[in-house]
Amino acid sequence: MLRPGSREAGHPDIVPVDDEAAFWDDHPAVLACLREPTPRIPAWFGYDVLGSQLFEAITRLPTYYLTRVERRLLGRHAAEIADLIGCGRVAELGSGTAKKTRLLLAACLEHRPTTYLPIDVSREMLEISGAALRAELPGLAVQGLWGRYEAGLEWLRNGSREPVVVVFLGSNLGNSTPAERDALLSDIATTLQPGDRFLLSADLQKAADTFETCYNDPPGRSAFAEFRLNHLTHLNRRFGADFVLDHFYPRAHYDPATAVVEGHLYATEEQSASLPALGLTLHLQPGESINVGFSAKFHRPRFVADVARRGFALQAQWIDAVWQYGIFLFHRT
Ligand SMILES: C[S@@+](CC[C@H](N)C(=O)[O-])C[C@H]1O[C@@H](n2cnc3c(N)ncnc32)[C@H](O)[C@@H]1O
Repeated sequence: MLRPGSREAGHPDIVPVDDEAAFWDDHPAVLACLREPTPRIPAWFGYDVLGSQLFEAITRLPTYYLTRVERRLLGRHAAEIADLIGCGRVAELGSGTAKKTRLLLAACLEHRPTTYLPIDVSREMLEISGAALRAELPGLAVQGLWGRYEAGLEWLRNGSREPVVVVFLGSNLGNSTPAERDALLSDIATTLQPGDRFLLSADLQKAADTFETCYNDPPGRSAFAEFRLNHLTHLNRRFGADFVLDHFYPRAHYDPATAVVEGHLYATEEQSASLPALGLTLHLQPGESINVGFSAKFHRPRFVADVARRGFALQAQWIDAVWQYGIFLFHRT
């Protein structure tokens, strides 16, 4: 990723929305996560340039159903969703390549002039998706908001009061811990005005083996392993750490009690890794792990109630019968 304030940050269609210090001085956040009883690396730290590419490779795995199912739902229902959204500003949290969002944006353009405001910490993803959208949907206005979710939402709050829909796809809400999720939902509710819309998707609870197959590499593929190990490469680069990738074994498990899939890097031998820039040394025994992935799975009625109590009312939902994956449209009350 490029640093805000660098010459390249002046791309006309990308606004750095984050405060440079807050965006890049993530030492306290990373340090706090690494000090948890099972050390953890926060979700967004996984999306450096290589991490973003590796996530794309994950979405192409035959066993990773989330992207395919969501694309199918959007393909089938985009016109109806665009109609119900009823506004010309579409802001998206964690937009990535925005390949699925394109289906929705094309349908929105059929109804009205539309401005797309993707929010992402990955500047490269904003550039790549912006260029692709401009080529495919020439009528679409695109302004990338480069920074963390909170900064993008603050930019929206301080800007135009025109109606807006906030889109959050990929069941990405589940990538936050319950406390982070709570804060994010409140932030979204505070940003939206009565009548604004919130469109989000959720992967619903199902049998454990479905998740374990989905979140581990199938034979002969390595996208998940590389994505998870890249968190350590990123720590090595950013904080001068000395993690040895060969000393870890990646594996994801689903815990039905918490309804969370956790991706871990398990130590294959006793080891110490030092992170001089954080003033930290991690000691790991064989079998101990670092948590590099958190995907909560949702119980539909509780999920809807949880969003609703922030000041939203469910307007419509589209649920895949086989994979139990849903897209939910709320309006701010
Ligand atoms: C799992 S990918 C999903 C991309 C896309 N929404 C999809 O459904 O395929 C998550 C995206 O969110 C971005 N992201 C993760 N955490 C973020 C945060 N806290 N603030 C802004 N962007 C974030 C990443 O850079 C990445 O592009």
